[in-house]
Amino acid sequence: MIIARRLSTKACRLVRVLGIETSCDDTAAAVVTGDGLLVSETNRHQHSVHAAYGGIVPGLAAVHHQANLPLVLRETLQRASLSIGDIDAVAVTRGPGMAASLGVGVAAAKALAAVHGLPLIGVHHMEAHALMARMGREDVVQFPFLCVLVSGGHTMTLVAHDVNSYTTIGSTRDDSVGEAFDKVARDLGLPWPDTQDGGGLGPALEQIALRGDALRFPLPVPMDKSTSALSPDFSFSGLKTHVRRMREAGAFDPLVAQDQADVAAAFQRAAVAHLRKKTALACRHARAMGVNITCLVASGGVASNAAVREALADVAAKEGVPLECPPPRLCTDNGVMIAWAGVERLRRGLLDPYTFDFIQRWPLDTLKEMPYPARVSSFDL
Ligand code: KG4
Ligand code: ZN
Repeated sequence: MIIARRLSTKACRLVRVLGIETSCDDTAAAVVTGDGLLVSETNRHQHSVHAAYGGIVPGLAAVHHQANLPLVLRETLQRASLSIGDIDAVAVTRGPGMAASLGVGVAAAKALAAVHGLPLIGVHHMEAHALMARMGREDVVQFPFLCVLVSGGHTMTLVAHDVNSYTTIGSTRDDSVGEAFDKVARDLGLPWPDTQDGGGLGPALEQIALRGDALRFPLPVPMDKSTSALSPDFSFSGLKTHVRRMREAGAFDPLVAQDQADVAAAFQRAAVAHLRKKTALACRHARAMGVNITCLVASGGVASNAAVREALADVAAKEGVPLECPPPRLCTDNGVMIAWAGVERLRRGLLDPYTFDFIQRWPLDTLKEMPYPARVSSFDL
């Protein structure tokens, strides 16, 4: 097969993969080598575009991806003095995400790969978050591991058996944890950061919580009673609503800076306690499945929160395994994770045809059932 010949004639570690991410409001690209070296990356956010609407507007996001992606791609290559001829494969977020946004990245990746005769790799956004901790550290972060994915779109625990093979243990029944951070921060009137860093309002809430008294407004830890305490699922909407009701009932009126800090600290304390309990439960479930995990991996935007990392490190220590997290900057959406997932999939020959399309809703567990015609024989480079 052509791909197999390519990989054997060129040492796998020298391969350069271009990754493209446009699933939400970040237009990002990166080049990563087969041995996990980050060669170059660019990320353009759209904070100022959506801030006025209080949430991401899908149509606007797509228009800005259209405008930004050519610039982001050019910048990524130019920063490393590369041209497209130096790239060995193109990886792109295939889903899940906002349809119009995914479409921009997928169309660009297909065109680039087809014109230059490069292998094309459609990446599951959540698989990319999960694999990020392995970049250049595959000997440390080995399969199988238990993964906690905490982002704006998802909150889930899963067993990563191998690349392309995942079993979900718990997932959220309503809001994601990132959504809850964002909504509570908005209710508290916290401003969007001026910086160009990604990550919604979560970082602002984390910052202000540092000055707060978490015990002034004790908030209940979700799903802590009766049968739901035994479920590995998550729920954050009750906690978010609790804060809103407190405000509506005049618990802090007028809302002064110390109130903001105290509520933020109380919310974060309850949210982190919930994550801690359900992750510990997921470890037990993994063991009951007969899976001997080598480590606990936490990723996604909320995994850049120091209190979350501390709690999960504690869970991991009790399990007798290390906690492995990407650096905070690479926990939020970026092009590096897509390029690295591309490397991992390329190594296993998991390629897609130039005709593939994006998938808006895409459970991670179904990855292993996807057909990969390119791997079998008919893929024509
Ligand atoms: O992974 P991500 O960048 O995008 C998605 O795939 O959703 O995650 C973004 C989410 C946002 O909800 C943001 O508020 C949250 O992650 N987040 C944080 C922190 N940094 C980002 N939440 C709490 N503390 C943080 N430091
Ligand atoms: Zn994400």
